[in-house]
Amino acid sequence: MTFRLKLSLLSLSCAVILTACAKAPTEPDTVTDKTAAIWPELQLPVAKDAAVEQKITDLMAGMTLAQKVAQMIQPEIRDITVEDMRKYGFGSFLNGGGAFPNDNKHATPADWIALAEAMYQASVDDSLDGSRIPTMWGTDAVHGHNNVIGATLFPHNIGLGAANNPALIEQIAKVTAREVMVTGIDWVFAPTVAVVRDDRWGRTYEGYSEDPDIVHDYAAAIVTGLQGAADKDFLGDERVISTVKHFVGDGGTVGGDDQGDNIASEQELFSIHAQGYVGGLQAGAQSVMASFNSWHGSKIHGDKYLLTDVLKTRMGFDGFVVGDWNGHGQIPGCTNDNCAQAALAGLDVYMVPTAAWKPLYYNLIAQVENGAIPLSRIDDAVRRILRVKLRAGLFDKPSPAKRPLSGKTELIGSAEHRAVAREAVQQSLVLLKNNDAILPLNPKQRILVTGEGADNIGMQSGGWTISWQGTGNTNSDFPGGSSIYAGIKQAVDAAGGSTELSSDGSYSSKPDVAIVVFGEQPYAEGNGDLDNLEYQRGNKTDLALLRKLKADGIKVVSLFISGRPLWVNPELNASDAFVAVWLPGSEGVGVADVVMAKADGSVNVDFRGKLSFSWPATVQQIVNRHDADYQPLLPYGFGLRYGDKSTLSNALEEQVATDTALDDLVLFELAVKAPYQLLLHSGGETQAVVSSVQQQGNVAVRTFDKVVQEDARRFAFSGEAKVALSSAFPADLRSYQEAGSALVLQVKRSGTVPDSVMLGMDCAQSCSSALNIAPQLQAMADETWQTISVDLACFARQGADFSQIFTPVSLATTAPLVLSLADIRLKPAAAGDATISCNGD
Ligand code: BGC
Repeated sequence: MTFRLKLSLLSLSCAVILTACAKAPTEPDTVTDKTAAIWPELQLPVAKDAAVEQKITDLMAGMTLAQKVAQMIQPEIRDITVEDMRKYGFGSFLNGGGAFPNDNKHATPADWIALAEAMYQASVDDSLDGSRIPTMWGTDAVHGHNNVIGATLFPHNIGLGAANNPALIEQIAKVTAREVMVTGIDWVFAPTVAVVRDDRWGRTYEGYSEDPDIVHDYAAAIVTGLQGAADKDFLGDERVISTVKHFVGDGGTVGGDDQGDNIASEQELFSIHAQGYVGGLQAGAQSVMASFNSWHGSKIHGDKYLLTDVLKTRMGFDGFVVGDWNGHGQIPGCTNDNCAQAALAGLDVYMVPTAAWKPLYYNLIAQVENGAIPLSRIDDAVRRILRVKLRAGLFDKPSPAKRPLSGKTELIGSAEHRAVAREAVQQSLVLLKNNDAILPLNPKQRILVTGEGADNIGMQSGGWTISWQGTGNTNSDFPGGSSIYAGIKQAVDAAGGSTELSSDGSYSSKPDVAIVVFGEQPYAEGNGDLDNLEYQRGNKTDLALLRKLKADGIKVVSLFISGRPLWVNPELNASDAFVAVWLPGSEGVGVADVVMAKADGSVNVDFRGKLSFSWPATVQQIVNRHDADYQPLLPYGFGLRYGDKSTLSNALEEQVATDTALDDLVLFELAVKAPYQLLLHSGGETQAVVSSVQQQGNVAVRTFDKVVQEDARRFAFSGEAKVALSSAFPADLRSYQEAGSALVLQVKRSGTVPDSVMLGMDCAQSCSSALNIAPQLQAMADETWQTISVDLACFARQGADFSQIFTPVSLATTAPLVLSLADIRLKPAAAGDATISCNGD
């Protein structure tokens, strides 16, 4: 305690003489004139403190090389045990998106605390590793404490950007920090400060804006809210360590490719993509996450210039750099198991989920011993890690279970916290169209509420919600939350109107007005990458719903759930009013606060959200504020308020130049593609897979990483069972059959293969087809990925009716088998090259 007090007093005195304290005297000055001209020396508010540095020196004097390297290893809870923590003493650990204590999606706050406590106690237990340095737990609390059932879930960042209110953002961060602290967790991997230049990127919604202005200011506000102000309550009992991510340029990759290449000039890298680091570091952020992306072909995890020369030396960052999910393994010459390059470039903490942590740990030790990595680099990394731990008071704070907020479960999703989220929802909505001032709606009317998103808290919350992708959730997974429909119903019931909820737009008696809630299904990271911005390409079911209602003579209000602006000209034309609601999170009631009038017809809460992303005029348009030839459909900063005249035409261009070639039908790529679900069948029971580890009778599945995160599934059969990708409605796949397609999948066997492994395709009722692929599997090398492709004609021959396919792929066996699958698709014109063909049968 006394130690912490002294620290904050000293930091305060340093804050007065900012520059003198910010500069690290011991670091070599590798900054060239060019670097200095672009990147500023920052005035960091948490200065180096002589007492802390001395304490680190003392601690390190007693540390072995193995103990030091262990500080740099960050494994994941699905791949280590408490006993591993006791034995190795990892400096930190994480839970990835959708990873919970005991693999239990419904883990209680008490379960979270119990794991935090057990890991902490194991880390300070020196009986095996001789180390008493406390570990720290990092989590992706990116829109509230989103892995925990019942937490307050805020709008995703794109909606917060539209609110453009740094004071509100600081509040949100403060609430998030408190809910995280209730579960005994020390550290969050937020904020994301990507400046998103291409909305085809699947992580667009994690960014606040396409423009650096908002991102710069928000980074400072959120870091302050999470950590406390540097000169006041810094990393106090209700605060968590923050991470500004992903350094740098993640939002500016060519084509909006996730983990792709950014080719901005160095000046643009600074003035567009790095502004969140300027804001965040100046507010005292203690960690920075390296990005998966490259800059001019160089993976950031291995880029010494950016990580060390720019970030640490020039900008003066003295916290630590954490890697992203096996990001080091993507550096040329590296694997997840073995990567000296990242440490040499300046990475301080390796995020190494999966079993790779163990070989990586031993390899790093060996690389220091054989001189490949200088001990001074390890010492620098460990000094940075310990510095942050000391600043956060981890050596003095009681153990996770005994901290002031621990176990105060009433704070998780408390009314006070939800009120902040509800206000954020209100402020994030952007009104794009409002013909005849139809909004706000009089709540005394008869209102039909329809569309897939109407009563769907999972859909309105998007990715990074309980599960990584945000899929597989139902309203019961959000106790205390509200759907958009629930909010509307509440307002209408109170005013004496009536609502009818319908999934398909049908109604029992004709409504005065219809509210249609529709939009994107949840996704995260690369799984959300798009080729172009057309909404529902080739499958405009929501447009059909809007038009049906219009044809019935009903006014239509569209509430559009999305993680980015999309080309929706036809849907805009078919709507009398149109609101971009983004991904509002658990407080759907905040939407009704704005779109519904008071009982007397007057405005309840006005719109104030403004587009922080330009809205595209065409499906191909990549358009950003300050572009030379700037012609979006709706500009950055657009957003109607009540009383404003609606300016959008009702006859926007609806034609899209499309190529007619049949695209691959992707069934599984990174994740199972909607509308398909992964089902496990065994012992007469069927279970849909909703989490990363699951078992049904004789078959267990878990996700794992083939090339990128969670892009593969491993199935372990112990006896008779079947796994399938199925949908509730049959698909007409005759065009694929006619196009000479093949079913193509990546397969890896682990161990022996029984004599019958049936690859199937099932249609309605009793028409199913299956082929034995055991001979092909048996001929494959063990533990080696290979492609299997089957001419669709083979299934047709077995009786598949392609006009009504429910299950485009299934796999069944009766004996033990371990098989991994990835990337499953129907590929047009691939039958000729299929590894299993039926010609001549
Ligand atoms: C994401 C990070 C996240 C990490 C841990 C990565 O895939 O890129 O944003 O913090 O996983 O879950």
